[in-house]
Amino acid sequence: MLPPSRAQAGDAPIRSTDNDAAVARLSAVQKQYLEDPFIKYLVPRAHLQPPRPPLINIGTYVRSSAIDVLVDQWLELSAVSGQRCQIVSLGSGSDTRFWRIAARRAGPLKQHMQTYVEIDFPEITTKKAMAIRKRKDLMAGLGDPNGVLLAQGGTALHSPQYYLLPGDLRQPPSELLEPMLFSPRENGRAAILDPSLPTLLLFECVLVYMSPSSSSRLLEWFVQIHKRARTGALGCIVYEMFGLNDAFGRVMINNLRERQIYLPGAEPYPTSESLLDRFLKTGFSAARALTLKEIRKSYIPSEELERTSKLEFLDETEELDLVLAHYAISWGLLLGNSDMNATWGQWGLKQQREV
Ligand SMILES: C[S@@+](CC[C@H](N)C(=O)[O-])C[C@H]1O[C@@H](n2cnc3c(N)ncnc32)[C@H](O)[C@@H]1O
Repeated sequence: MLPPSRAQAGDAPIRSTDNDAAVARLSAVQKQYLEDPFIKYLVPRAHLQPPRPPLINIGTYVRSSAIDVLVDQWLELSAVSGQRCQIVSLGSGSDTRFWRIAARRAGPLKQHMQTYVEIDFPEITTKKAMAIRKRKDLMAGLGDPNGVLLAQGGTALHSPQYYLLPGDLRQPPSELLEPMLFSPRENGRAAILDPSLPTLLLFECVLVYMSPSSSSRLLEWFVQIHKRARTGALGCIVYEMFGLNDAFGRVMINNLRERQIYLPGAEPYPTSESLLDRFLKTGFSAARALTLKEIRKSYIPSEELERTSKLEFLDETEELDLVLAHYAISWGLLLGNSDMNATWGQWGLKQQREV
């Protein structure tokens, strides 16, 4: 086997954040904040993983349930608009969202999803492809096993609805993503994605590891593709840490630096306004940003807040608020024409109560 290139080896700390996210999710499931029967298949030695502290579990719950609401709304609005939608998760790591949607066979959501694409470094996609092939519960979500194929030397997995694809998102999108997603395939098969369909991009804790210029280029490129198609709705959800120019942020940056993890993508975003500006500057027509603290206070349904507040004892609510105030979910929307406003304009988290 060839030794990894310097760039590949240098990215190992970034790739290690996938395990952090998956272990945090597993812990939130074990402590009953979240339901996810699939995450245990994607965490090595899942039964031996110690639970994460309550503060991390609450953060994982708030982030995950709020993003679930936005994704489910996207599927519902596609149904209302009479179109099947596409979801593209960039830096998807060990995320299980596709299987959680697929498991709801009885509901209308899955049938309104035409394609679900996941992209990550090849080391991560290879591991995930192997886990999928090994676990019958994961294979079951992909439909007929004869339609599930490993590709590109085992770094990719293709099925009729779900695609797992390798790539470094810092590469120019015209070189990486254009041929991968939007070019017709061999044997006369259509491209994986159709830019005229409603398309939702997910960046869950990913852009922060890339330079601001690489991530802007990525967003601008998707915007241009969708503007050319003129008919589709393009949505984008970004979750990440921000506002790291204070004492809390400096501690976080230093802790991560000890693991050789750097956050170049956090620098230009000192406030939540700056997070929504990112969307407006890259060509989206509307955007919003909320911190996890705001979401927990006003956007989680009251019965869920009550239920999760009883799961674990938390003595430091001030510390919880401080941590949650440094993470935000932001989302941007671009519509092909103004007639689509009546339907797609409803997309977004809804306030459940006044603070
Ligand atoms: C913190 S994990 C989050 C994983 C997943 N989105 C989730 O929320 O569970 C960050 C992921 O982004 C991926 N990633 C970071 N930079 C990337 C890049 N330049 N190209 C491809 N993937 C990248 C990492 O490999 C890792 O899987």
